[in-house]
Amino acid sequence: MKHINSWMMLILLSVAFFSCRYDNEEELYGDAICDTSNVTYAQTVKPILTASCYSCHSVSNANSFGSGINLETYSELMIQINNGRLVGAISHSPGYTPMPQVGAKLDDCSIEKIKAWINEGAANN
Ligand code: HEC
Repeated sequence: MKHINSWMMLILLSVAFFSCRYDNEEELYGDAICDTSNVTYAQTVKPILTASCYSCHSVSNANSFGSGINLETYSELMIQINNGRLVGAISHSPGYTPMPQVGAKLDDCSIEKIKAWINEGAANN
C-alpha cells in the first residue's frame, strides 16, 4: 500500500509540474506558442533584421544612421553576435544600447528565434 501511494504522488507531481510549465509558456508568448525549431539565417533571422534593423544597419545606411555597424552581410553580423552586442541590444540588457533605436522592442518570439539560431551555432544557412 505504501508503495502505491508513492507512485500516486509521483504521477500527481508530474501532472502539476507539466501544467505549470504550460502556463508559463502561455504567459510568455500569449496565446501562440513560439516555435523556435528550424530557425535559419535566410528564412528566420534575415527577415527580422530586414524589417527592423536595415533602415540603419544596412551596407548603405550603416555609416549615416547605424554608427558604422553593418548587419546586412553575414560576416559583419557575426562580429556583433560574437561580441555579444546583438543579443544584448535586442534583449535590452543593461550595458547595451537598446535596439531598435527607434520604435518598439522586437516581439519576444523574434528575440527567442534569433537566440535559438545563435545557440545552434549561427550557421550561414
Ligand atoms: C533608427 C536607426 C537604428 C535602427 C532601426 C537600429 N539601430 Fe542599432 N544602432 C543605431 C545607432 C545610431 C547605434 C549606435 C548607438 C550608440 O552607440 O549609442 C546602434 C547600435 C547598435 C548596436 C551596438 C549596441 C551596443 O551596445 O554597442 C547593435 C548590436 C545594434 N545597433 C543592433 C541593432 C539591431 C539588431 C537592430 C534591429 C532590431 C537595430 N540595431 C536597429 C541605430 C539603429
